[in-house]
Amino acid sequence: MKAFCLGIIVLLVMTACSQNIEPVSNGDRIENAPKVDAAANPRPLATPEGAAGEVEVPPFVKAYFMHMFVEALYSVPGNKHPNPNWSSPLKDPVNNRVWCTDCHTDTSIDFGKIPKQRSPMNEQLENNHEFMVGLMTKWVGRLNSDEFGAKAKLKQPVTCTTCHATDPRQEPQTRRQ
Ligand code: HEC
Ligand code: HEC
Repeated sequence: MKAFCLGIIVLLVMTACSQNIEPVSNGDRIENAPKVDAAANPRPLATPEGAAGEVEVPPFVKAYFMHMFVEALYSVPGNKHPNPNWSSPLKDPVNNRVWCTDCHTDTSIDFGKIPKQRSPMNEQLENNHEFMVGLMTKWVGRLNSDEFGAKAKLKQPVTCTTCHATDPRQEPQTRRQ
């Protein structure tokens, strides 16, 4: 399954490269990487964990983080060091918020109905720097992606420092590397 998924990603990358004359170095940009992932993996529930450093995480545990992110688009983020000058990146943070179904378009499951439920595993994962960076990188990638409904609700592309005082990827927390 993993090899199959990888094969699809490689194919997609190859197709993308032969059609656009984008320099390959762009592929290293963090904003671009998740786009491929989003296209190849529109149904995350159906696929195994992929990237290195990822642990097997039950969907409801991720759902808690998803609720936290979505809330951080319209109210002060609940991360450890929020951007002191945070302001909502949404065009209309009251009447037109980003919602689960903007990104989870699989109609066989209504992601919008998965409740916010904190578990001890959320506590552990918040301190798993590598896991959080991986999850957020994918999430921010899909938020800014033309392929999903969230982007149209944004004033400008969202970056890590929209919500974090400093880019967490630059922090010297490389315990697990
Ligand atoms: C901006 C896009 C975006 C929004 C909005 C969003 N998600 Fe997600 N969600 C993702 C991405 C990308 C993943 C895959 C992350 C991963 O598995 O590493 C994901 C994964 C999940 C998973 C885990 C699925 C699995 O296979 O384990 C659940 C559950 C989930 N989201 C629920 C929600 C809920 C509930 C909401 C609303 C409160 C929400 N999401 C809002 C992008 C989004
Ligand atoms: C829309 C706001 C938002 C954006 C954008 C965002 N984050 Fe976060 N981040 C959060 C919230 C909220 C939490 C707290 C989640 C929790 O602990 O339940 C968090 C937690 C984290 C953590 C765990 C440590 C902490 O500060 O709580 C890391 C690491 C992290 N984010 C990395 C990133 C990276 C890397 C990016 C950019 C790719 C990013 N985040 C973009 C809102 C955001």
